[in-house]
Amino acid sequence: AQPVIVAIDGPAGTGKSSTSKAVATQLGLSYLDTGAQYRAITWWMVTNGIDVEDPHAVAAAAGKPEIVSGTDPAGPTITVDGVDVAGPIRTQEVTSKVSLVSAVPEVRARITELQRSVAAGAERGIVVEGRDIGTTVLPDADLKVFLTASPEARAARRSGELGRGTDVRATQEALVARDRIDSSRKTSPLAKADDAVEVDTTELTLDQVVECVVTLVEEKR
Ligand code: C5P
Repeated sequence: AQPVIVAIDGPAGTGKSSTSKAVATQLGLSYLDTGAQYRAITWWMVTNGIDVEDPHAVAAAAGKPEIVSGTDPAGPTITVDGVDVAGPIRTQEVTSKVSLVSAVPEVRARITELQRSVAAGAERGIVVEGRDIGTTVLPDADLKVFLTASPEARAARRSGELGRGTDVRATQEALVARDRIDSSRKTSPLAKADDAVEVDTTELTLDQVVECVVTLVEEKR
């Protein structure tokens, strides 16, 4: 069979990662979390004292770190210059800075190239999740899905992931701030591709969203 390419885009907290991993597992496909790659380059910038508020400094450093993504949906991995950064890329510091770093065109060019080469290497096909996969990275994907959910549902899910004692209101404000930067940047902003299927997950369980996407993939095959 031909490899199948599935693009899953949408803002944070819509269930992209959980959905993408489950769909890849059910269909025996590889999985790529492109947000983790932008987080990894941001972690490297912060760790190496690059001023992330300075787009010129970020652009100049964009080619330096070597980022490698493991694509097994049962245990995706991410390393920067050989160091496992799966934990450190989820800190609040990285989360609050990633949108600034990922808006820099040199960063996007570098990471986009990496994403295309990972997708091309997936023999059975791949589920790629992000913000600009259907519009820019893999415009010829076999299926494009755009996940949405109400801001309240997104903040509640994200706070649930972060654990007890998380301020839902602050989480919602941080998500909205990140969306605003991601949607308004000049280079490949967060956007629904014209040919993407929009799925509003506000009232759906994870299993229902997964079933919906798996059915859509099977219809395309
Ligand atoms: O998906 P996640 O929330 O981990 O993504 C972190 C950040 O990485 C996003 O807020 C966005 O700034 C950036 N990103 C992007 N393009 C993608 C995936 C993520 O700009 N395809």
